[in-house]
Amino acid sequence: MDAVTSFFHERFGESPEFVAVAPGRIEFIGNHTDYNGGPVMGLAVDRVIGVALSRQEKPEGEFATSGNGDTVVVPLAEISPLKGEDSWVNYPLGVYKVLREAGMKAEGGFRMAVASTLPPGAGLSSSAAFELSSAYAFAAAYGYEADQKGMARIGRRAENDFVGVPCGLLDQGVSAFGQAQHLVSIDCKTEDFGLVPLPEGVHFWVFNTQKKHALTDSFYADRHRECMDAFSVLKAKYPELDCLADASLEQLDAVVGELTEDQLKRARHVVTESLRVYEMAAALKEGDLARMGNLLSASHASSRHDFENSCDELDFLVDALRGVEGVWGSRLTGGGFGGAVMAVTSADFSEDKANAACEAYAEKFGHRPTIFHTQSGQGAHLVSEQPA
Ligand code: GLA
Repeated sequence: MDAVTSFFHERFGESPEFVAVAPGRIEFIGNHTDYNGGPVMGLAVDRVIGVALSRQEKPEGEFATSGNGDTVVVPLAEISPLKGEDSWVNYPLGVYKVLREAGMKAEGGFRMAVASTLPPGAGLSSSAAFELSSAYAFAAAYGYEADQKGMARIGRRAENDFVGVPCGLLDQGVSAFGQAQHLVSIDCKTEDFGLVPLPEGVHFWVFNTQKKHALTDSFYADRHRECMDAFSVLKAKYPELDCLADASLEQLDAVVGELTEDQLKRARHVVTESLRVYEMAAALKEGDLARMGNLLSASHASSRHDFENSCDELDFLVDALRGVEGVWGSRLTGGGFGGAVMAVTSADFSEDKANAACEAYAEKFGHRPTIFHTQSGQGAHLVSEQPA
């Protein structure tokens, strides 16, 4: 990431001591299973957020992002989230705070510059990439030791407690553990991570609708709550259950009368989606790409009808991509309520075909989705260290 080093130099007039990068992610399968203790699989993409950092004596954090002239200065004695246009700083600031609470000994302050090759707002979780690259840079600067899982947890805690989104471990976990030509699989109950080799020649395309529901965050929190409520009903009858994703369809049937219609649908999605992730692992092991595609379609249908986090735009894209030469399958990816659709394809799928889907979409909705194409990338890591 030379760009972030030169940007740091340009802004602060010196070379950075530490440079770290972390990739964005694509949620492959396992929609809203993570915070329900279920399994999930994701892909680290080949674009990153890079962070350059130097320590300084003044007890202040100075943050600069390329494309924005102002440097944001934050006193570090007492840290609380920023509001308004400076709120992009909350990702690294939250990570810094969580690291300090976790025992990182940080004297004085720091200067941080950020640059990105991740397209913004493309549904690739740039926030997790920002958290993880910051975590690696701070850890190197202040001698904090943690493995990949520890780093993923730090990022998630910053997101949950400081940024205020009750997300699961998917985004930060994939950004931390990603490896080229592999999917990251996470058992979110045990927090066990694994790598699943990708079949040869598989490509990933992300179509972002650019639709962001005004209430995105509250919808996410609403679904989170519905899932927790459904789980407490199940837990009362089946105390041995650790999480919603562990429930069986039979157990769900047995409490139907005690759940609202919405709670039942959310729970059914989480339970069936978890089963699909296990089936996906088997399909990939056997190299059965047709089955992989069917599981992706079934995942989308479940999100659409049971979890109800799809929308006309996402459904349109999934329908437009169905049956197109080279497309194995597609589904909404990430939180939903707008956002992005992911397609898994062979090399036969091309920019032209992706554009055709976007044209059809534009005719109906009046604007084109953004297109992002990747095969895979590497997880978060420190790129260079030259302590002053
Ligand atoms: C967002 C969250 C993740 C996960 C997905 C839905 O991307 O950040 O933790 O819950 O939504 O699967």
